[in-house]
Amino acid sequence: MKQKIIFTNDIIHDVEAVLSTFQYDKIFVLMDSNTHRFCWDLLEKSALLHDAQHIIIEPGDSNKNLNTLSFIWEELSTKGATRHSCLINLGGGMVTDIGGMASSTFKRGLKFINIPTTLLSMVDASVGGKTGINFNGVKNEIGLFSESNAVILHSAFLQTLPYNELLGGFAEMIKHALIDSEVLWAETLRFDIENPNWEELLLLVKKNVEVKERIVIEDPKEQNIRKALNFGHTFAHAFEAWSISNEQELSHGFAVAYGIICELYLSALLQEFPFDKMKQTLMFIHSLYPTFPFACNDYNKIIDLMRHDKKNKGQDINFSLLKDIGSLALNTVVGEEDIKNALDFLRETN
Ligand SMILES: NC(=O)c1ccc[n+]([C@@H]2O[C@H](COP(=O)([O-])OP(=O)(O)OC[C@H]3O[C@@H](n4cnc5c(N)ncnc54)[C@H](O)[C@@H]3O)[C@@H](O)[C@H]2O)c1
Ligand SMILES: [Zn+2]
Repeated sequence: MKQKIIFTNDIIHDVEAVLSTFQYDKIFVLMDSNTHRFCWDLLEKSALLHDAQHIIIEPGDSNKNLNTLSFIWEELSTKGATRHSCLINLGGGMVTDIGGMASSTFKRGLKFINIPTTLLSMVDASVGGKTGINFNGVKNEIGLFSESNAVILHSAFLQTLPYNELLGGFAEMIKHALIDSEVLWAETLRFDIENPNWEELLLLVKKNVEVKERIVIEDPKEQNIRKALNFGHTFAHAFEAWSISNEQELSHGFAVAYGIICELYLSALLQEFPFDKMKQTLMFIHSLYPTFPFACNDYNKIIDLMRHDKKNKGQDINFSLLKDIGSLALNTVVGEEDIKNALDFLRETN
């Protein structure tokens, strides 16, 4: 792994320390309009970034598309980027995904640094080397594996993040805890995300990054153990797609929280995951996240969407389940009846 991961209390010092280890001619900073507004001011006093060129894009996953990518390439081109330039991606997963792809393809690859500004991008998107855009109505359809040269994490960015965005990222932390260890799980369930202590949160983020790094180092291309990171996600992706088709808003993180409940149920049913730990986790999730509104007559559509998930082959629906906290049951094929029972379970415990 070439990626250097730095946790900092002094963002300017650490950005400059990283830049001083590089040879570069120009620096570009990619931001969306929100991170430009809320996050850039923590960096603008840096002498090394004084002459950096800004590239500002519209926020939101719906803009993680070819038009925006093309706009970034154009900006790099007209503003004189060379193979020796460096791009800093300052933003959430949308910015680090598309910025990672832009820098890995422009002139066959520039150096790039990720500075994640959402909880989700800190614990998930900015680490692990996946970059990409949505295309033809399919999420992350085009992209490449390409690690940034460095990731710099600074909890002060989180203080301007809307609460729902914080909660979305926290769902991925619950997932990491479940696939990692009982110690991290207990610590996560004790954490008060409604009134966060930022220093404690950064420590917890650090442990999450370690979980993701450990898994990605072992299996960078998702042949095997990296599938553990999909825990909760077979349901989550179907919930997201179902919500889009119903013109309902559902963020990825919230979908993951609901997906965790369904997949914990399947883990208990099929893999003997301990009932008490399932119950504690689902009560914790229900105490934080709003009710997900869907009904019995939506089940077939949701199951159909699961079949079309790019991770499934043929008619089988595959899950990354758990035998216990930290003990994986990858590639578990689950039948339709059990999937429906899991959906019942989510609705009944709501
Ligand atoms: N590459 C990966 O491994 C990976 C993993 C998970 C998710 N993703 C991708 O990440 C994206 C989701 O990431 P996200 O949740 O960070 O979304 P995002 O980047 O869209 O950010 C969410 C919202 O918060 C705003 N924002 C960001 N930082 C802010 C701050 N500090 N203060 C105030 N507002 C701020 C953004 O402008 C945006 O409106 C999706 O595109 C998803 O596909 C990638
Ligand atoms: Zn996810």
